Amino acid sequence: MTQDELKQAVAQAALAYVPEGEIIGVGTGSTANFFIDGLAGMRDRIKGAVASSEASAKRLAAQGIRLFDLNEVEHLSVYVDGADEIDGGFCMIKGGGVALTREKIVASVAGRFVCIADASKKVAVLGRFPLPVEVIPLARNAVARQLVALGGRPVWREGVVTDNGNHILDVHDLAITGPVALEARINAIVGVVTNGLFAARGADVLLLGTADGVVSSTR
Ligand code: 5RP
Repeated sequence: MTQDELKQAVAQAALAYVPEGEIIGVGTGSTANFFIDGLAGMRDRIKGAVASSEASAKRLAAQGIRLFDLNEVEHLSVYVDGADEIDGGFCMIKGGGVALTREKIVASVAGRFVCIADASKKVAVLGRFPLPVEVIPLARNAVARQLVALGGRPVWREGVVTDNGNHILDVHDLAITGPVALEARINAIVGVVTNGLFAARGADVLLLGTADGVVSSTR
């Protein structure tokens, strides 16, 4: 099976986690896009969605799914999104698709985070995928120096501006054995908006696309 077929299979499997009559949180990226396309088939059975990016909002709207602003919503039962890496403790690196801050915000009000990922995303230790950090543009170099002091090698994703008008530093060469502590440590750097470690609030369910089918596990 191709990687896209694996992504499609987990996106399809995630539809079973969508509660009827409710508003759900929707992530960003190619796997989330397959999920949005699948969700279109049940658009009349859900109230709508909160999107984690302008791109996902556009795709949801194109599929006729009603959009809600997060400020209109107190709680979401479910948030469905992909990941760049996920470890055995359900901690993730996200943000390859630039949407990490809004993803983290929408996920924070969800009762359950359903992670949909192809098998290549499952790792023993997070960090082979460079850790995205969203920074206020003015603070980019100041933050980069602090990230070097933490042992990382930040690279500015030049030309990329987030939905929030900020910049992204991709931090290479981190072997992340303590993801909860590192998430908090990086978020404490002045000028950081958020970082792509989803550890304090990791996934609750993982739907992993493998050659043998979708393997589901719960934290
Ligand atoms: C976007 C993300 C995505 O979930 C992550 O990059 C995975 O993307 P894809 O589903 O395209 O492999 O965090 O900010």
